[in-house]
Amino acid sequence: MKKLLDIMTDEFAKAFKEAGYDEKYARVSVSNRPDLCEYQCNGAMAAAKEYKKAPFVIAEDIAEKIKGNFMFKSVEAVKPGFINIIISEDMIAGYIEKMADDEKLGYECDNQKTVIIDYGGPNVAKPLHVGHLRSAIIGESLKRMFRFAGNKVIGDAHLGDWGLQMGLIIEQLHDNKPELPYFDEAYAGEYPKEPPFTLSELEQIYPEASARSKTDEEFKERAQSATFKLQKGYKPYRALWQHIINISVEDLKKNYRNLNVEFDLWNGESDVEEYIDDMVADFEKKGLAHESQGALVVDVKEETDTKEIPPCIIKKSDGAALYATTDLATILMRVKDYNPDQIIYVVDKRQEMHFVQVFRAAKKAGISGNAQFTFQGFGTMNGKDGKPFKTIEGGVMRLKTLISEINGAVYNKIMDNRQASEEEAEKIAKIVGLAAIKYGDLSNQASKDYVFDIDRFTSFEGNTGPYILYTIVRIKSIMEKYKEMGKDSGKFGGRLNHSQGESEKQLMIELSRFNDMMEGAYEEMAPHRICAYIYDLSNAFNKFYHENKIIAEENEEKQAGYIRLLEVTRKTLETSIDILGFSAPDRM
Ligand code: ARG
Repeated sequence: MKKLLDIMTDEFAKAFKEAGYDEKYARVSVSNRPDLCEYQCNGAMAAAKEYKKAPFVIAEDIAEKIKGNFMFKSVEAVKPGFINIIISEDMIAGYIEKMADDEKLGYECDNQKTVIIDYGGPNVAKPLHVGHLRSAIIGESLKRMFRFAGNKVIGDAHLGDWGLQMGLIIEQLHDNKPELPYFDEAYAGEYPKEPPFTLSELEQIYPEASARSKTDEEFKERAQSATFKLQKGYKPYRALWQHIINISVEDLKKNYRNLNVEFDLWNGESDVEEYIDDMVADFEKKGLAHESQGALVVDVKEETDTKEIPPCIIKKSDGAALYATTDLATILMRVKDYNPDQIIYVVDKRQEMHFVQVFRAAKKAGISGNAQFTFQGFGTMNGKDGKPFKTIEGGVMRLKTLISEINGAVYNKIMDNRQASEEEAEKIAKIVGLAAIKYGDLSNQASKDYVFDIDRFTSFEGNTGPYILYTIVRIKSIMEKYKEMGKDSGKFGGRLNHSQGESEKQLMIELSRFNDMMEGAYEEMAPHRICAYIYDLSNAFNKFYHENKIIAEENEEKQAGYIRLLEVTRKTLETSIDILGFSAPDRM
């Protein structure tokens, strides 16, 4: 559907033309003086210069021409030359009726790109921490937004499963359980099907090994060589590695499911191993790579750089692949498998340099196909003290701990507010807790750091996820009551009220912004714009709710109009939160 502002602008363009002025001055925008009018056109001010006339005279000419147009209730020229616009009730109601019937609520889009979104980025065998949370939340929302806009979107978790952490775990295990067959070079039989550790054992091994490698140089070297052996296909380590992957990925999947995050691909760094040797050879053959202190590097600096961009290292002196190597080979594989138009990386902004190097190296080597690269870096999630989020004991906050803290806070609120069974309250707390976390994150511009504040995020009032859900639940319950009264709004043809009260009209006006807002949010890859919109929309709805008696309304047709308006509001809110990656309960 054409955007409401564009429809009005077209009408003004006609008026400008008829009155003898260029239509480029006809732009209608939302009023910045809502106390005076709903929309405005300031074109007369600019046109005054070109036509050497007083702006007010031009504004009056336009207002005169528009007079009688059914779209507007009033169009008034005001000094020094603004045009104040109030939309007609017929027009706004008609627009929202069409929006209600449209599958995408009037959002028109003709995008057909193939887009890969690289997000989540969990590391095998290391627990998920809050740093991974942002990538999952933002990436999931972008994926849904790009899909809603018509694109073919593939979400890839890009597991970190090929780096030094694997060697560290293997060597630590070697010391803990030397009797395992994986460490017996003479062993020739089949390796056990059962993993030699549990998930919680695995979760302990990594931190232990990682700490040890910082002081024990010999251990670190062993881990490096184990990593290299693994990468080169050494069978016992491959078998062990597979156990680590299986256990870890199963747990990761469970965690992501709880976050309402779904990947289409669970590819890992290891999946590109087969491409690496040829790719590195190709860099060399094309004369793009040279040796530097034993390592193989690609120069990626450009003349226009304003800061130092160091060379991209693609092979370590010991022959091992690095983070950049697997990222480059992943580009190669993605181009081969999907020929994407765009690859979006949702990663901590502190990794930006790595991606600048990788993107440049990929383009230099001509392995990027048609893909445009987008680095969507995000800021750090801080605690109230402004420092990276920690547990009370000062350790890195694990995702599971964080989620259970949030859910606990919401649970207490639900129990305080009303009578609910413990079981029901727990179920609701999970849904509301997720909204609290996601909205708290997404309502900030992604690139900025933000303060994670459990009290604020879980509040049922103010600019929070729970407030949005509360609004939806309120709408659902009114509609439920209406149905219980045996009524059916369809009886009146699903029409809205064409003669509205003030807050009813304002709610319609807020609704009409949906397609415009979505277009902007998509173009800027900005979920925070959706958050800002649904907050405004919820406020407009709650004002309408407080000023009107919906269930007690005696005029049945008017009541049906209200209900229809509630339906569109609900659908708009639910479509929006679905794009943000959370949902609303039936009660709370
Ligand atoms: N596993 C990495 C980390 O935890 C993030 C991966 C990001 N994606 C990528 N293609 N490098 O930091």
